[in-house]
Amino acid sequence: MQPRFLAFPQGFWWGSAWSAEQAEGRGNTGKGRTQWDMSWDRDPHRFYHGVNTDITTDFFHRYRDDIQLMKQTGHNSFRLSISWARLFPQGDGEISPAAVAFYRDMLQEMNANGIKPFANLYHFDMPEAMMLKGGWENREVVAAYVNFCDACFREFGDLVFHWFTFNEPLGPVLGGYMEDFHYPNVIDFKRGVQVGFHTLLASALAIKAFKTHQLPGKIGIILNLSPTYPRSEHPADVQAAKYADLFYNRSFLDPAVKGTFPPELVDTLRRHDLMPQYTEQDLQDIRDNRVQILGLNYYEPRRVKARASAVNPDAPFMPDWYFDSYVMPGRKFNPHRGWEIYEKGIYDLCVDIRDNYGNIEAFISESGMGVANEERFIREGQVQDVYRIGFIQNHLAYLHQAIQEGCNIKGYHLWTFIDCWSWINAYKNRYGLVSLDLATQQRTVKKSGEFYKALSDENGFYF
Ligand code: NOJ
Repeated sequence: MQPRFLAFPQGFWWGSAWSAEQAEGRGNTGKGRTQWDMSWDRDPHRFYHGVNTDITTDFFHRYRDDIQLMKQTGHNSFRLSISWARLFPQGDGEISPAAVAFYRDMLQEMNANGIKPFANLYHFDMPEAMMLKGGWENREVVAAYVNFCDACFREFGDLVFHWFTFNEPLGPVLGGYMEDFHYPNVIDFKRGVQVGFHTLLASALAIKAFKTHQLPGKIGIILNLSPTYPRSEHPADVQAAKYADLFYNRSFLDPAVKGTFPPELVDTLRRHDLMPQYTEQDLQDIRDNRVQILGLNYYEPRRVKARASAVNPDAPFMPDWYFDSYVMPGRKFNPHRGWEIYEKGIYDLCVDIRDNYGNIEAFISESGMGVANEERFIREGQVQDVYRIGFIQNHLAYLHQAIQEGCNIKGYHLWTFIDCWSWINAYKNRYGLVSLDLATQQRTVKKSGEFYKALSDENGFYF
């Protein structure tokens, strides 16, 4: 078949994303400690190859040159996060003027170079003082977060037009209270439910604060959503997939976009005595302050089967009482990382948002492929990551189809720009369009970076 040019809508956002803790490094503005420093003190062995977040990709010192590299790799937009612990080293109280100056300069530089900065206000990094109060379990922390957001709107509202309250709010619940990969590393779903509720409330209150500033931009949230498929058409598998979808997708999507929680979720939590503490006013705030734009992080689907073994009725409740996640044989996997690659998932996700969430304005806020030992693919000094180019193209072909069929998708952001630090895995899996030499901090554009530039310049590609 002749290749066909897949053109994207005019003004489509091409870019990538990363976060403060993963890329900035500590810098010299007197940034406060976060739970990642606490986690390091508690157990450095949890950090792959003993690499913490002190330096990472050193964006703090290198952002001017890196912004040029963004241009060179076709970015017209870029998502970063503003570090709460940099702006308020104690979580609340005095704002750091040096931190404000740092972010203002960075944001100005991006705008001056034709790159729209997308600012996210929470990406897994909380000031230590707030964490010591119980983190998202504590309502006072919600108030401190809203105060931080308010300061961001005031200080940077003339430079940022796309705001996001949270990245992957499921992360702290799953990592911190269910699966033991984020601080505080407890396994207690009831506390996790409280954390989930408080982050949703915090998001709504941040949106409420945003509205009082009457800024020209928009505000939304970034959710990691995995289209969920049953192993078979057997009613038990279908029911299991429904539960997985309810707990992991709809629990955040519904309140953020519709302002209400799915009744089945509430019933299930009630039945197991897992309801969080809340007030009627909280529910009202969540109803009244819905997101204006949605970021969709999509990496892999969730495949689910009915639970094979009976649940011990004395065991504490976990959502997977209802289902087992399942690695489906015969599917395509990223050989370097293990995750399933299912390009059609991106299409299914967009169609779901179109059909069930009012076709709210949305974009792909993360998609990407992590590869370990990527030096294997260096030829003549450049990573020849043709697998990443293929990965991007195959996903974009489905995204293009979704847009043709009326999905309100405004852009595509790759994870990530320059190889950056990952939670736990540090620099093991490389995701960037630009490679990083950890010893020298030297950056080199990968083959995918060149592809991305052409893709953005032409606003499409032959497929
Ligand atoms: C999700 C998160 O937003 C980001 O912080 C993480 O590093 C990437 N996905 C890659 O796993």
